Amino acid sequence: MRVSIIAALGVNLELGANNALLWHLPDDFSWFIQHTKGKPLIMGRKTMESLGKPLKNRTNIVLTSALSVLPGFEIAKNWDAALDMAKASILRLQKIIPEDSLEVKPGVSILTTLINSDKNNYKATTVETKTISGQGNDGMANSRIHQYAPSIDPEIMIIGGGEIYKQALEFTDRLYITEVNGNFSQADTHFPLWSLQEWKETYHQHHIADEKHQFSFDFRVFDRRE
Ligand SMILES: NC(=O)c1ccc[n+]([C@@H]2O[C@H](COP(=O)([O-])OP(=O)(O)OC[C@H]3O[C@@H](n4cnc5c(N)ncnc54)[C@H](OP(=O)(O)O)[C@@H]3O)[C@@H](O)[C@H]2O)c1
Repeated sequence: MRVSIIAALGVNLELGANNALLWHLPDDFSWFIQHTKGKPLIMGRKTMESLGKPLKNRTNIVLTSALSVLPGFEIAKNWDAALDMAKASILRLQKIIPEDSLEVKPGVSILTTLINSDKNNYKATTVETKTISGQGNDGMANSRIHQYAPSIDPEIMIIGGGEIYKQALEFTDRLYITEVNGNFSQADTHFPLWSLQEWKETYHQHHIADEKHQFSFDFRVFDRRE
C-alpha cells in the first residue's frame, strides 16, 4: 500500500499561519479533492481543528494525545495505530467489492466511480463510494464495480500539517506537492526540508495566476527513487 503526502507550499516551504492556510486557490483545492477522494487520510490534531469537519467519503484519522476528536474523525494515538486504521479502511473498501456475485446489500458502501488517467507516466486514480439504499440489488452500479475493481490502487494520504509531514517524510513513497509561487513571511508552519536527489518527478503542470487565483502555482508529483 502506497503512503503519500499531499501538501501545498510557498517558495520558502510555508504551509500556514494561525492554524489556517495562506492562500485561496480553488484549483488547488480541486487537485486535493481529486487525489484524496475515497482514500484514508491521516492528519495532525491542529489540521483537524483547521478543517473543522471531516472530508466526505474518506476515513479521517487524527494523530493526537487527546482523548477525543471532533465528530466524524477517528482518533489514533501513534503512527502504528494510524497506519493500521488506514490499511483496515482500504481493506474494508476492497472487501465490499463483490468479485463474483451481483448482489449488493442495502446499506453497504460500494465503489461507484473509478477514473484512471495517464499523463507523463503518472497514473491518477479516483474512487467514489455510495451507500446503497432500498431493498433490492443495484445491478448497474455492481457491474461497474465488477469492471473496474482490479485497477484499484490503494493509497494512504497524509494531509498535514507541519509536524505530521516532518515525521512522515522518511517513510513516504510519493509526494503530491503544489508549489505556490509566493512569499509568505507571516507563516508559522513549514514543510520539512527535502532533497530532490531522493525523489524523481513524475508529473508537472503549471497553473497561471488569474482572477480566481492570486498566485501562480505548479502541481508536481514525485516518487521516491529506488
Ligand atoms: N499547506 C498545506 O498543504 C497544509 C496542509 C495541512 C495543514 N496546513 C497548515 O499547517 C498548520 C498545522 O500544522 P501543525 O504543524 O501546527 O500541526 P499538525 O501537524 O496539524 O498537528 C500537530 C498535532 O498532532 C499531534 N501529533 C503530532 N505527532 C503525533 C504523533 N506522533 N502521535 C500522536 N499525535 C501526534 C499532536 O496533537 P496533540 O497536541 O493533540 O497531542 C500535535 O500537537 C495549519 O496552519 C494548517 O493550516 C497546511
